[in-house]
Amino acid sequence: MVDGDKNCLWHHLKPHKCFETQEQMIIVEGQGLVVTDIRGKKYLDATSGGVWSVIVGYGRESIARAVYDQMKKMPYFAGVYGTIPAIKFAQKLLEKLPNHDKVYFSNSGSEANEKAFKLVRQASRISPERKGKYRIMYRDRDYHGTTFGAMSATGQAQRKQDFGPFLEGFLEFPHCTCYRCPYEKTYGSCNIECARKVEDIILKEGPDTIGAMIVEPITAGGGILKPVKEYYPVLHEICRKYDIWMIMDEVVCGFGRTGKFWGHEHYNVDPEIITMAKGLASSYEALSAVVVKQKIYDIFLNDPADPDTRLNFFRDISTYGGCTAPMTAALESTRIIEDENLVENSRVMGAYLLEKLNELKKYEVVGDVRGQGLFCGIEYVQDRKTKTPVTEAQMAMLMGNLIGEGVIAGRTNTSFHGLNNIMNFAPSLIITREQVDTIVSAVAKAIEKTFKQ
Ligand SMILES: Cc1ncc(COP(=O)(O)O)c(C=O)c1O
Repeated sequence: MVDGDKNCLWHHLKPHKCFETQEQMIIVEGQGLVVTDIRGKKYLDATSGGVWSVIVGYGRESIARAVYDQMKKMPYFAGVYGTIPAIKFAQKLLEKLPNHDKVYFSNSGSEANEKAFKLVRQASRISPERKGKYRIMYRDRDYHGTTFGAMSATGQAQRKQDFGPFLEGFLEFPHCTCYRCPYEKTYGSCNIECARKVEDIILKEGPDTIGAMIVEPITAGGGILKPVKEYYPVLHEICRKYDIWMIMDEVVCGFGRTGKFWGHEHYNVDPEIITMAKGLASSYEALSAVVVKQKIYDIFLNDPADPDTRLNFFRDISTYGGCTAPMTAALESTRIIEDENLVENSRVMGAYLLEKLNELKKYEVVGDVRGQGLFCGIEYVQDRKTKTPVTEAQMAMLMGNLIGEGVIAGRTNTSFHGLNNIMNFAPSLIITREQVDTIVSAVAKAIEKTFKQ
């Protein structure tokens, strides 16, 4: 298997030269929060499967059984027709989003965001009220996926490097992290410029050309950036003033990750469109969704007999959006989240994790600790005053030392020039206090080993 990996696999997001001298880790088993590699070594996974998605932990037999039963009965029919798991899970999602009305299924976070962009673009052609409003705003440091539309809407320069030209009609606006405020203000004495100044950009670019704005409730891969509480109400107010739909990308934050069911619930905001993936089926199956308000759905309710509007329905399809196993897994995963009170555990254990991580500020290299629920990060710096990031080589060594301590965490990875210095933690929502302690003490040891502190 080790040779097979080396000879046949091209891994995601990895420079492969290192495998000439180094063996790739091959994960063979998982139970709870613990994964075992092919050499029999066990690790505490503080990343829920690397990209924050195995919400209910590994080894859930009830999900496997539910999927098995559904696959025997009816594995697939294209989403042009209904299936029982699709109906049931759509109902469940709308129960969780009472202000929204329709659910559109697909397979990945990128795909869900593409669907949202297609809705915006088509609406800008077929709706008299929205004529010409085809452009989409996105925020510096946010990530929305790997496909061309999603990449065009991504604010991470290194992720985009060498892949242009990107799609026309995407507009960037500044990020909102207080630790590196783009307006050099301090929260408490600022006027929430990070949100308010977006209006200047809208006015300069032309509100009549802008149809939507996509944001992550709390920026994930960009470094666990949690906007202040005033941010979304101010931003959404500006959007509403110019009839710009807010697309909330809940791909990472949804399903309890931040200690509430949805990330945007931490704010007084009611986005028009919500996209989601990852934790939807706890990544036991691949599933994503776009959830919209009735007023958006209604734009696409055309008269098929009218030759002028015959093509005005949402002309989009996703072959695997018709698989029934993902919705079945999602229903069971959501049942587990509810029955085991995992959103509350995320809130409580998340607060404990943040408190323990804050104790690491005794190390000079720990510049900032931030997070919400079971979604936390540490920004490492060489100098607290200047906030100069540690080097990428130091980060790589730190991550290696942490794995050596038996804990897998995440990091900002080839996202920004000179700013890939943030370690992140997003363990599955079943984590215990003892496991939080294990993670934090492993990080402390890795810091001491790497920086000799
Ligand atoms: C916030 C956010 N949106 C979208 C995506 C893309 O999801 P996928 O990798 O399933 O296409 C990601 C992936 O990490 C993400 O973090």
